[in-house]
Order: sequence, then structure tokens, then C-alpha cells
Amino acid sequence: MSELTINRVPESTNNSLRAWSAADELLISFLNEKDPESVIIYNDSFGYLATHSAPRTIYFASDLKSQEKSALENFETNKIDSPCLHPTSLLKKADKKAKLGLMKIPKSLGLFEMFLSHSAQNMYKTGTLACGFMTRNFTKQMLEIAGEYFEVVEQSLSKKKARLLILSKPKNVDKKTFLNTIPFENEEIKQYFGVFSSNHIDYATQFLIENLEPEEEVNSVLDLACGNGILAKEVQKQFPDAEYHLVDDSQLAIESAKLNLKGDKVHFYHNNNLEDIASNSVDYIVSNPPFHVEYEIDISLPLRLFRAAEKKLKPEGKFQVVANTHLNYKPHLEKIFKMVKVVFDNDKFIVYSCFNAYPDKDKRWNEDAI
Ligand SMILES: C[S@@+](CC[C@H](N)C(=O)[O-])C[C@H]1O[C@@H](n2cnc3c(N)ncnc32)[C@H](O)[C@@H]1O
Repeated sequence: MSELTINRVPESTNNSLRAWSAADELLISFLNEKDPESVIIYNDSFGYLATHSAPRTIYFASDLKSQEKSALENFETNKIDSPCLHPTSLLKKADKKAKLGLMKIPKSLGLFEMFLSHSAQNMYKTGTLACGFMTRNFTKQMLEIAGEYFEVVEQSLSKKKARLLILSKPKNVDKKTFLNTIPFENEEIKQYFGVFSSNHIDYATQFLIENLEPEEEVNSVLDLACGNGILAKEVQKQFPDAEYHLVDDSQLAIESAKLNLKGDKVHFYHNNNLEDIASNSVDYIVSNPPFHVEYEIDISLPLRLFRAAEKKLKPEGKFQVVANTHLNYKPHLEKIFKMVKVVFDNDKFIVYSCFNAYPDKDKRWNEDAI
């Protein structure tokens, strides 16, 4: 269908992963049939929808910085001027209402609900929202949630195993805060719908918390892919005076972390890389890194973050990371860091400590000492 070139940005080492699906193609056919002047787009993974919607005015409502960057890079590849693309926060009103909306239904139904609520408020009453999905990912709950926000919920015929939900007549619904509260260690952790692990602290994260082993002196901490900020929050209990940096691709994650961590020395970055963090500046990095892009496993994502983490660590710093055992990160980590130590493992999870230099600078490294 496409004569445009659409790439995954950042690219993946797994060549079988594509930048769009049959669901995106159906959405663009729907757009071309209606041919509106402006469109609001939700959850456009790699910019396929935006690039095909240009030069119309595009309200690009995405939670992820990576999606925005991907769309802009694909605009550039295809020599499309980017002023037609207006990044639009899910937590704010769009600049103008749209008659047509396109959405790739996200894996998280919580996020789906936030998108629906935003679109119901930011589309004309006569507007239509088309939501694309692969039929294998369909659940009945999608219809139920859609029905909470739109009077009319219809389904298209399936094409290449993809279908559309076509929603019209947005309802006037009471404003919701879309915040979950998770009890953890006598505290309440808050997070917006759609943020990782919606109703409990993830078990891998809990294993990392139990096995945190910061060195004695910690002045600067990075929570890499912070989600609700729980890892930084735990370290902060031990080092209240340290400087904290929390980075996440998701705006909703960053806004959640802001609710959970306070202080002049806490800094938040909505970004999908570590360009905001100075090189050789961090004593202690903690992470439960991502390895999924929606339904797909993509190992190049955590490996890119590990390489970036290595550059930000001080020579005597430590990086602690938890992973599902089956992902077998050890050989990858050993290519990036001077030393990698397993501090905990069971049949599900493994916690690694990674160093750029020997833990004790005065001693020669002795493997038996691990
Ligand atoms: C497994 S979750 C961990 C969240 C949190 N640290 C916890 O333990 O609950 C991974 C997080 O990585 C974020 N993420 C995905 N890709 C990213 C990237 N390229 N850069 C930064 N964060 C990313 C996701 O938004 C998600 O919040």
C-alpha cells in the first residue's frame, strides 16, 4: 500500500520486526475514505499513521517520546515538513478539536481507556474514532471500555487478520483521574493507568529491591526506565541526600514518578535514551528494563539502554539490573561492562551487578572474591 519508507526508530537488530501492521494499513484506508483536513492520532508506534496522514494537520497524542521521535524521523526520511505534526499530551486538552481520530489499540487496556477519554473530549460530537487492532489481540473488554466513552461502537470486516472498531457519538462522561494506588511496604505508590504493572509492584522489581547492594558512598543515582519510580524511591530511603535522575519513555510513567518521589535533588526526564545525563557522572544505576514493544519482544531495546548506562556510570560506579532468567543477558552485559556478577537468581528472575572497574580500586580483581 505504501510508497513511503517507514522505518522502526530506533532500529531493531531483529529484522523480522516491522514498523507497521495490517491494522495500520486499515486505519489509513479509513482515513483516505474520509479525507479530513485534520486528524488526531493515538499510539502510532513508528510513525506510519502520521507519515501517511501528512500534510493534514495532525494532533499526535502519544504517551511515548520514542513514538514522537520515530514519526519525526520518518517525516524526514520521506521529506515531509514536520510543522503539520502537533505533539499533544494525554493529560491536557488538544489545541483544537478533530473530526476524525485514528488509534492503534495499545496492549494496556488502562492506556486504551485514557486514549478513549481524551478522544471523547477532543473530538467533535459528529466525529469518528477508528481503532485498529490485529484480531488475535482482540478481547471483549475492548468493546466494553469503548462503550463507556462512545454511544456507537461498530466493527469493520477483517482484512489481513486486522479489524477496526469504529466509534462515534462521544459521550459526556465525568472526568476521571486515571490514577491507581498500589500498597507497598506500608506506603501507597501512585500511578496513572497504562503505566507498567498496574495493580501490584512487579515481582522482578521486588526481587531487585530485595537485592539492592549500593556501595557505601552514593551521591548520584539513576533509575533507568523508572516507571512509577519505585526503585529510586527505595534507594532514596538509604541515601536521602543523593541526587536522583529518573528517565522513562512514557510521559505517564514520569508524571507518576513525580507523585511518588519528592525533593530538590530529584530530576525527571521524559526520554527514550540517556542524552540528558552527563557521562561518567552516576554512582549507582538501578533498572528493571523494558524488553517488549507492545506485543513484541525486542532485545535490542534493553541492550541499547545497557550500552548507554555504561557510559553514564562513574569508573567506580555500579549498575544493578533485574531480568527474566530466560532472557540470558549475561553474555551481552559481559560485552559491555568489565565485570558482571550474579547476585540473585531463581527459575524466574536474575539480578546482576555490573561494574566498569574493579569494586575496590586498590585491589587487583580476584575472581574468587565474588
Ligand atoms: C519493566 S518496566 C519497569 C518500570 C519500573 N522501573 C518498575 O520496576 O516498576 C520498564 C519501563 O521502561 C520504560 N521504557 C521503555 N522503553 C524505554 C526507553 N527506550 N527508555 C526509557 N524507558 C523506557 C517503559 O515505559 C516502562 O516504564
